[in-house]
This record gives sequence, structure tokens and C-alpha cells, in this order.
Amino acid sequence: MTRLTTISAAAPLSPLLPCPPTPPLLHSSTPSSPHLEFPFLTIDEHSEPRHTPPAMNDLKTQLAWERRLERRQRRREEYRRGLRPFAIAAWNITKEHNVGSLVRTAHAAAAQELILVGEREWNVEAAKTSELYTTVTRVDGREDFRDHIRAMKWDLVVVDFDDRAVSLFEAEYPARPCFLLGAEVGGVPKDLRDDAEMVVQIPQWGLVPSLNLAVAGSIVLYDFLGKLHQKSLLDRPNGGLMDSVEGDDPRG
Ligand SMILES: C[S@@+](CC[C@H](N)C(=O)[O-])C[C@H]1O[C@@H](n2cnc3c(N)ncnc32)[C@H](O)[C@@H]1O
Repeated sequence: MTRLTTISAAAPLSPLLPCPPTPPLLHSSTPSSPHLEFPFLTIDEHSEPRHTPPAMNDLKTQLAWERRLERRQRRREEYRRGLRPFAIAAWNITKEHNVGSLVRTAHAAAAQELILVGEREWNVEAAKTSELYTTVTRVDGREDFRDHIRAMKWDLVVVDFDDRAVSLFEAEYPARPCFLLGAEVGGVPKDLRDDAEMVVQIPQWGLVPSLNLAVAGSIVLYDFLGKLHQKSLLDRPNGGLMDSVEGDDPRG
């Protein structure tokens, strides 16, 4: 595959930081029972945010409610106008809370979309309502994923262990990255790693050979944003720090 000129000339990871071997299976890879207490939705069930109106006893309450809905609508539109040209994708995730956590990070970072490869239900609780505002695209398998990447003109960046991985600290990302994370067990398949414009690995010094995948995704996203900021390329350089709006839930 042709490499983009923006790809790092960074050296491969130092031999002092060898790629860890595949870790032993510590936990069952099948969705476990603790999720039962949380609400679950399949991707296709997602729809517009649902807000429960208060009891409209008087005109004042009703007007206040309408103003609140309008404010939320404005904030949603403003948010969508500010989406950045990058995506995050996950290959066959098996643990629902990991998907929810990734959606939440993708939303915070203003990613254009989160792509789930493979059919999964996922834990809406972990997403903390971010699933209502961030596009979650589901594709069936590697060929659909490849087609989608091409259609969206994303530059595939695999986040995983690989012989040609560059360290996060050295990584220079392409213009429209789609960061692909691997399954809890097995990681990103070799053929997709080979497809990638670059593979980035997060250095580790601990004895456990890998990070949680939602954590790994979050670290790389914020490294990408941090590097844009360093180059004064972050479109909203002063943005990102939450204003506390009195009496309003920032999740609204
Ligand atoms: C738990 S790891 C999978 C580890 C292992 N390679 C395997 O095959 O079972 C799940 C995913 O998290 C991401 N990940 C975890 N630690 C990482 C690191 N240090 N650098 C880059 N990606 C990492 C990768 O996307 C990986 O595929």
C-alpha cells in the first residue's frame, strides 16, 4: 500500500522495548454476567436523545423546559459542526463496557465516528449518553470495513503490537486517521495490520503485557490531539476545558 507523506520517519521501537508476547487469557472472552444490571441496546436501536419532560403544571415550567431543549439542540449542532476529521474503530470487541468507554472518549475528543467491526451489543451505561451524540457505525467484517475506510477516505492507523510498530512518543499521524484497536484476545488481525498506513504501540514497562483496549484507544486519541495542539493545528485551541454551566448537566 502507498504510504502517505505525512507518515512518520520514526524509528521502529527500540529493542529495549520489545513487543510483548500475547498475554495469557486471564478472563473469559465471552460477555460476562455483570452487565445484567445495566441497560443494553443494540446499535440499530440507537435514536435521537430521549429527554423526559417534567410535569408541566404551569406555563413557567413549560417555557423553561422548551428553553432547555432549544439550548441542548444548539449545543448538539455546534458540537457536530466542530467534529474533527478522525475516527476510531474496534475490531470484534467482546466486552461491552469497553465499547461504551470508547464511545465516551470518541465523543469527548469530537471524533467524526466510531466504527464497530463485527456484531456486538454494548453497554450504554459506560457511554454516559455520549452514544446519543456520536455516530456509531457498525460494519460486518473486514471487507465491509475496508470499503468503509475507502469511502470515508480514512487513513488506517492500527494501534497494536507489530514488528513495524512505532512508539507513541515518535508517532506522526496522517491527516485523516482512523485508529483501529484490536479485540481483547487476538488483537488486530495480521492482514489489517499490513493494510495500515502505520502501526503505533504505546510503550509499557509493567509486567502485564498489554493495556485495556479502551484505555489504549484513549491514550492514542489524546496523543493525536496533543500533537495537533503542539503544531497549532487544533481547530479550537482554547476549547476542550469544560465550562461549568450552572444548573445544567454538561451531558445534556
Ligand atoms: C488486550 S489487547 C490484546 C493483546 C494481545 N496482543 C492479544 O492478542 O490478546 C487489546 C487491544 O488493546 C490495544 N493495546 C493494548 N495495549 C497496547 C499497547 N501497549 N500499544 C498499542 N495497543 C495496545 C490493541 O489494540 C490491542 O489489540
